[in-house]
Amino acid sequence: MMTHDIAVIPGDGIGHEVTPAAMEVARAAGRRHGFGLHLTEYDWSCERYLREGAMMPPGGLDRLRAHDAIFLGAVGAPGVPDHVSLWGLLIPIRRAFRQYVNLRPVRLFPGVESPVRAEVDLVVVRENTEGEYSEIGGRMNRGFPEEMAVQQSVFTRAGVTRVLDYAFDLAGRRRGYLTSATKSNGIVHTLPFWDELVKERAAEFPGVRWDQEHIDALCAKLVLQPSRFDVIVGSNLFGDILSDLAAAVAGSIGIAPSANLNPSREFPSMFEPVHGSAPDIAGQGLANPIGAIWSAAMMVEHLGHARAAEQIVAAIAAVLAKGDVRTRDLGGTSGTEQFTRAVLAELG
Ligand code: NAI
Ligand code: MG
Repeated sequence: MMTHDIAVIPGDGIGHEVTPAAMEVARAAGRRHGFGLHLTEYDWSCERYLREGAMMPPGGLDRLRAHDAIFLGAVGAPGVPDHVSLWGLLIPIRRAFRQYVNLRPVRLFPGVESPVRAEVDLVVVRENTEGEYSEIGGRMNRGFPEEMAVQQSVFTRAGVTRVLDYAFDLAGRRRGYLTSATKSNGIVHTLPFWDELVKERAAEFPGVRWDQEHIDALCAKLVLQPSRFDVIVGSNLFGDILSDLAAAVAGSIGIAPSANLNPSREFPSMFEPVHGSAPDIAGQGLANPIGAIWSAAMMVEHLGHARAAEQIVAAIAAVLAKGDVRTRDLGGTSGTEQFTRAVLAELG
């Protein structure tokens, strides 16, 4: 039997609740489709940061490097600044392993209440290693009236081209329609460059219809007419905002999955729900595990088991459509455990 070697980082808060649920479902799918998952757990988290002064130990990235994929629950804890968890763990992993595509599918499942009454089935492709999330910049004159902060955005031809190529190719495998998020009217250097590259790459994908929207208008359209979108590609910041917005449109942040992909497969990719550690509900068994389970399905697909991945998503959809088992964020009364058992039962 083929066995994949997975690094599992449950992290903090509800990460500890949704991660075991996701791994249990992925393993059950594996039993049906002839593959196994060998899990190695790492306790890297804000909890570890408070105990030992670092989110992960020295050499942590090298330990991850040997795995076939990484699964992450969520990190973040009250009392630890969010930039510590982000720059101490998530961003180093995304950058060291060249996970330059952040893929966030959004679907409105039948049976889920949403603020919009529309069909939603889209994917946000977020650039994941450069753009606005850059270390270049600094602060000066702290504490004086002239105090200042400067942060540079970084858009490279190679970095933008590769994420656009991924997005155009994905659109070609879906409904053949791509929307580029921009703001080249206000941001006059980097985003006109982005727009030029979109036009340039579009020529290589004649089967894909495309357009571009300014990010502000795009946010409004995503709420008003979500059905019209198929693949939306955006820079690191725009993609981050769009994917949370789109997840909310689809009913709950607890549903949304994500993949941080190294498409060349030189390094492991990382799979994680979009939501955070949700300290307000942590430890109570109330977390919606769908975001984590769907992320595990994306991992299973990345590992070469597309049918197994489809079945996991179909099992989630089937439980939601029946409607009697759902977590509180979706208006139900079930807990994490009960929902997970329903998905496992659906898988057979
Ligand atoms: P959050 O996503 O943790 O929570 C936002 C709201 O959604 C809360 O009311 C929470 O209860 C609810 N929620 C989130 N996931 C849910 C689920 N699976 N089921 C049911 N309800 C769910 O975002 P927040 O509150 O802004 O951040 C909390 C901590 O998580 C912070 O420390 C933040 O930095 C961290 N965070 C970490 C992320 C990651 O690990 N990738 C992503 C986002 C936030
Ligand atoms: Mg976000």
